[in-house]
Parts: sequence; C-alpha cells; structure tokens
Amino acid sequence: MPPGPLSVPIFGNWLQVGNNLNHRLLASMSQTYGPVFLLKLGSKNLVVVSDPEPATQVLHAQGVEFGSRPRNVVFDIFAGNGQDMIFTVYGDHWRKMRRIMTLPFFTNKVVHNYSNMWEEEMDLMVRDLNMNDRVRSEGIVIRRRLQLMLYNIMYRMMFDAKFESQEDPLFIQATRFNSERSRLAQSFEYNYGDFIPLLRPFLRGYLNKCKNLQSRRLAFFNTHYVEKRRQIMIANGEKHKIGCAIDHIIDAQMKGEISEENGIYIVENINVAAIETTLWSMEWAIAELVNHPTIQSKIRDEISKVLKGEPVTESNLHELPYLQATVKETLRLHTPIPLLVPHMNLEEAKLGGHTIPKESRVVVNAWWLANDPSWWKNPEEFRPEKFLEEECATDAVAGGKVDFRFVPFGVGRRSCPGIILALPILGLESW
Ligand code: HEM
Repeated sequence: MPPGPLSVPIFGNWLQVGNNLNHRLLASMSQTYGPVFLLKLGSKNLVVVSDPEPATQVLHAQGVEFGSRPRNVVFDIFAGNGQDMIFTVYGDHWRKMRRIMTLPFFTNKVVHNYSNMWEEEMDLMVRDLNMNDRVRSEGIVIRRRLQLMLYNIMYRMMFDAKFESQEDPLFIQATRFNSERSRLAQSFEYNYGDFIPLLRPFLRGYLNKCKNLQSRRLAFFNTHYVEKRRQIMIANGEKHKIGCAIDHIIDAQMKGEISEENGIYIVENINVAAIETTLWSMEWAIAELVNHPTIQSKIRDEISKVLKGEPVTESNLHELPYLQATVKETLRLHTPIPLLVPHMNLEEAKLGGHTIPKESRVVVNAWWLANDPSWWKNPEEFRPEKFLEEECATDAVAGGKVDFRFVPFGVGRRSCPGIILALPILGLESW
C-alpha cells in the first residue's frame, strides 16, 4: 500500500486531515509522504499523485485501469446514477456518450462555425463595459458580465438561444440552478455519510435537497430549451436541418442510440464543465493583467505589430505567441481544476511499486505538477515569457506529445474534450 499518515479505525485519517483537502494541503503532505500517498477517509481510500511519473501512469500508460470515476451518493443524484458522461464509469456507456458529444461540440468544424459568434459575444461584452460609467469611476465587478458572455456562448452553441441581459429571468434561474448544484455537490457537509456508511441514514435530508434541486434543474433545461428544439425538429420532419448541438443529440435519441434522459444529462454536463471553468480562467487572466501592466503592454504591442490594426480573431491567434503564453501561464499558476476530476480503478492496480486497492479515488495534483519548484523556475511568479524561453516546448495539450508537468485539461481517455473550444475562447478574451 502507498505510504500515508497512520489511520485510526472507522475514521481513518479523516479527523487528522479535516474536510478541506485542497491542492495546496495535499502538495504539502506529498513532501512528507511522497509522490504517491494514501489517505483513508472513513471507509474510502484517497490516493494522491504529485509527480509526473505516476501521473503518466494514471492518465496515460494505465489509462484504462484508472479510467473510471469514483461514485458517491450525492454525485449519483447529480449524474443520474451514471447516465451522464463526465462522472460515469469507464466502459461502453461512456464511450458512446463521448462519441455522440464529439460531433456537435468537439471538432475543428465546430470551432470554425462558431468562432464569429464568440467574437461577437466578446465585442458585446466590451461594448457594455465601455458604456458603463462606473467602470471609469469606482470600478465594477465584471464576473457577472463575463458569466453572461460565457452562458451566451454555450447556450447559442447548444440551443441557438441566448439571454438578453444579466437581468433576464431565465439567466437568473439558470445561474442559480447551476451554482446551487455546485455548492451541494462540492460541499463538505455530506462527508460524514459518504465516508462512514453507518451514518448514511442521517444524510436523508441533504439527499432530498439534492434530488429536489436536480429535478427542478433538469425540468428547467428540458422545458425551456430541449423540448423547444424537439418541437421544431418534429414540425420540420424530413426537411429538418441540424441547427445546433442539441439537434444532434435529439437526432441520436430519435435513432435510438441514447435515451432522452442521457440527452438531458449531456446538457447538464455541459452546464457543469464548460462555463465556470472557462470563467475562472478568464477572471484570473484579467486579475493578472491588471496587476502586471507591463504584460498588458507587451500583449498590445504584439497585436499591433503583427495584426497592424486588424482585429484579433480565432484564425489569427496562432500568430500571437505572447498572448498564447499568457493563457498558458494563467492555466499553470491558477489551474482551474487543480486536482482534475477524480479517477478510479475498478480493479486492484499497481502504481509506483504500490498496490492500489480496487475502487480507490485517485487524484492527480495537476496544480502541484505545474508549480513544483523541482520542475519549474520561480513557479510562484506570473511570467508568460517562461513559455517562450525555458518552457517554449511545453504546451497545454490533452493527447499526443504530452509534458506531464503541465496537464490543466488532464490527458488521455478521460481528458477534457472541451480543450478545443476553451483555448481559443481564452485567447480571444485575454486580448
Ligand atoms: C473534463 C478542465 C473547459 C467539457 C475535464 C477535466 C479537466 C477539465 C481537468 C478532467 C480530466 C481528467 O479527469 O483527467 C477544463 C478546463 C476548461 C475546460 C481547465 C477551461 C478552461 C471545458 C469545456 C467543455 C468541457 C468548454 C465543453 C464544452 C468537459 C467534459 C469532460 C471534461 C465533457 C469529461 C471528460 C470525460 O470524463 O471523459 N475538463 N475543462 N470542458 N471537460 Fe473540461
């Protein structure tokens, strides 16, 4: 078994380590217990990976063995007992869902078809901020406006629908449902019932709250968005043209490839995976640029020198290496999902010479891999130049030639398919 702090019966290490097992705490524990260590959280095993070599094993070399996701009573509610794609076990259902989602969301053609729309939504955001006098006087919190932009980008891709403003009642409802879902799923309040099965009956109230929220939330997606597209498809019959991502999904349902429930969980997954992750990265990029005016000037200089007054578009982003380096540096220092989405081995496995009991939760500390001073020069510094100088060969990729010190999107089978959208959207926004 991997090393780790001594555990006590029933509670394991839970009372020693507490609830907030964040990436910084786990990185500091790896200094004592090594690159692969084990925490017992009640009846559950948590294996923490903090070095590129075992990370390669988990994400790539033994990608099948560690390609599942751990389950718990709360995630089972939000993922419909594995009917979705992100949180489902590795197997045929996951493969089918990933294949069906690829065509409408994750191809170069999608990027090509939607990049004008992304640019338009960004221009609208900048116009709104310019028109707001408070921006120039006391300043404003731009999170809500960025959030509106990202919701509009994703809802236009999914449903060919958008929200009018931050006050649009549907926008208010959608953001409330999603943030309540994140709060309930990521809270520590249910750990006792998750870690100690004997205490599970006491979770009933919490689980009912989750079920209630989830059924209202899915009904919201269904009534306001999915059903409307289905009716348009039915009305047009044979003549129907695929107009947005959900049309592909409804098409797959009509052909019997997936169920209606699977379809609604695809919508749920995109709401969970695509919007807040990109939003956090944008906020961090903006915060770093505000605090580093010289980096701002360098981005501006590069744009005016290379594009000579032409606007930045998805198709010319590749001509702007300093801008791209700034996006990478943001993802490195402020890794949006620092521990990736947890992995799980369905069967007993080997890792770094240790035995990993079956059904262990395995987390890769991607933030530490990208901030460990043994691998990076002055990692605490925000310095895009790093990706043009000593790290010029290091890229944020999820497949192909991967540097396992820098994996903000994960790698391999369970890596983020949304990387193909996220990188250009972040590049466009950062300028
Ligand atoms: C999974 C990061 C944007 C869809 C993941 C994972 C990470 C990640 C770390 C888990 C990898 C693993 O388990 O090893 C990010 C970051 C984003 C982003 C940093 C933005 C900056 C998006 C977008 C979409 C998306 C825009 C969709 C449009 C997904 C899906 C999965 C996933 C569906 C689950 C993959 C699976 O389990 O097979 N993402 N993501 N992500 N992401 Fe993203």
